[in-house]
Amino acid sequence: MSRTAEELVPSLLGLWLLLCSWVCPGSTELQAPPDKIAIIGAGIGGTSAAYYLRQKFGKDVKIDLFERGEVGGRLATTAIQGQEYEAGGSVIHPLNLHMKRFVKDLGLSTVQSSGGLIGVSNGKTLVFEESSWFIINIIKLIWQYGFQPLRMHMWVEDVLDKFMRIYRYQSHDYAFSSVENLLHSLGGDDFLGMLNRTILETLQKAGFSEKFLDEMIVPINRLNYGQGTGINSFVGVVSLAGADSGLWAVEGGNKLVCSRLLQASRSNLISGSVMYIEEKTRTKQTGNPTKMYEIVYQTGSETRSDFYDIVLVATPLNRKMSNITFLNFDPPIEEFHQYYQQIVSTFIRGKLNSTIFSSRTLDEFGLTTVLTTDKSDLFINSIGIVSSVRENNNPQASTGGAFVWKIFSRETLTKEQILKLFVSYDYSVKQQWLAYPHYKPPEKCPSIILHDRLYYLNGIECAASAMEMSAIAAHNAALLAYHRWYEHTDMIDQEDLYEKLKTEL
Ligand SMILES: Cc1cc2nc3c(=O)[nH]c(=O)nc-3n(C[C@H](O)[C@H](O)[C@H](O)COP(=O)(O)OP(=O)(O)OC[C@H]3O[C@@H](n4cnc5c(N)ncnc54)[C@H](O)[C@@H]3O)c2cc1C
Ligand SMILES: *[C@@H]1O[C@H](CO)[C@@H](O)[C@H](O)[C@H]1NC(C)=O
Ligand SMILES: *[C@@H]1O[C@H](CO)[C@@H](O)[C@H](O)[C@H]1NC(C)=O
Ligand SMILES: *[C@@H]1O[C@H](CO)[C@@H](O)[C@H](O)[C@H]1NC(C)=O
Repeated sequence: MSRTAEELVPSLLGLWLLLCSWVCPGSTELQAPPDKIAIIGAGIGGTSAAYYLRQKFGKDVKIDLFERGEVGGRLATTAIQGQEYEAGGSVIHPLNLHMKRFVKDLGLSTVQSSGGLIGVSNGKTLVFEESSWFIINIIKLIWQYGFQPLRMHMWVEDVLDKFMRIYRYQSHDYAFSSVENLLHSLGGDDFLGMLNRTILETLQKAGFSEKFLDEMIVPINRLNYGQGTGINSFVGVVSLAGADSGLWAVEGGNKLVCSRLLQASRSNLISGSVMYIEEKTRTKQTGNPTKMYEIVYQTGSETRSDFYDIVLVATPLNRKMSNITFLNFDPPIEEFHQYYQQIVSTFIRGKLNSTIFSSRTLDEFGLTTVLTTDKSDLFINSIGIVSSVRENNNPQASTGGAFVWKIFSRETLTKEQILKLFVSYDYSVKQQWLAYPHYKPPEKCPSIILHDRLYYLNGIECAASAMEMSAIAAHNAALLAYHRWYEHTDMIDQEDLYEKLKTEL
């Protein structure tokens, strides 16, 4: 029986694949799933990466998660006389869909976290002050700033709208190989260009007044990012969205999301500090020599090591924060010198001396949060009454009208400074952070792909640091690792995704 060319081609292909499964180790290795994946860092980035990796690679892959401190990382609580308060990342935006999804899927509950009246101090007087009457607030805002608050709101909405496209891309499994490509896919050059301009430049160009910038934008940025209007425009929008209504937190503490994700991912937590990563050739059980990453870590006083097919780094890579050394890579793995902003959160239970902000007595003061302008010579960025992680935004005063206040400052507060702020206090506790990058556009974002199968999540913080950003980076890295492992190049860095997916349901 003679064969036509059409029949011959597929059968030759079959024969080649069969032969190749014995003699071309490279390609068969790529067909087989990875045996072991390591993630470094059990913050929201690392734990959500574990969750997404499990979804993509299935139940058989072994996932090890290294953490040298507490699960949760920059999500942490501080206890004050039996009650816990958010000391790190505290509020979540209503449109942060990954965080929302986690809470729902992991059986957690939420508490509402905005509320109370806000004032803005320039160190001498209150330059802006909310009223409990909605309509009065509107009139006040218009009186002081015209339609600028509305215009700003519309701009923030517009950017958020484009930003939300990421959820659609990720739900269709598309991944990006760089932060720049990811941002570009959301809104093109204009969107990516936000990393090149300060929010000051952007808003000045759009005609916003000096007064509005000083009294509204700066105080909000100082609260959310410990910096004024020198930050890039994208993180500026994220910061301003943090002034929206409907903000929420996780009942019992945001860090619960991390421990639940860890559980749900069925990965193995290793309490240890990763010191070195090196690529080495190993012979797997199948007999094939395979390139793997050796991770050397310290646990207690012991130094141990283990081998992995894929590694995800989910902590900021710099000497001060993670101090991981990449050994013998050629070319060497790029060193990042992103400087992180120090922020100290101080919790004080006491009675505020409101005269530092206004001439009124505390009983008439009425504000629950005071933000500050850049020009104030105050030593704090913000101060506000906080609710415990179990309360729905109705902070309880203890006897004598003392509330728990949370203060953000760049430096640790001295006793004299605390005494300036409070008439009396009976409890004070602080937590010091290298909180988020010190933003200084134009931003150059670190790579996501550090090496063949070695990925870095926290480069995304160059655009904006937030829980949701880490979750988005984690989802992206899991998809990217998966598609690169199985060589699905058509799922990576696709152009015009928005147009392509528009027609799909
Ligand atoms: C004071 C403050 C307020 C904030 N407010 C908000 C907010 O209101 N809303 C919001 O969305 N975001 C907020 N953020 C930002 C948010 O908390 C972070 O963006 C987010 O938590 C980062 O998560 P991550 O998992 O990427 O990193 P991290 O949480 O930093 O996790 C990294 C983990 O890696 C571990 N690690 C580091 N090196 C090693 C090593 N060598 N070996 C083993 N383990 C290692 C660390 O111990 C850490 O647990 C705030 C942050 C701070 C500090
Ligand atoms: C941002 O600035 C860099 C130079 O710092 C430039 O190379 C890049 O093209 C700019 N990107 C956009 C989108 O404007
Ligand atoms: C980083 O780790 C090396 C050893 O791996 C150590 O010698 C160095 O002191 C560490 N640096 C910091 C800033 O912790
Ligand atoms: C509050 O602070 C002011 C100075 O800012 C001081 O004069 C006053 O005595 C303080 N009030 C109390 C009750 O301590």
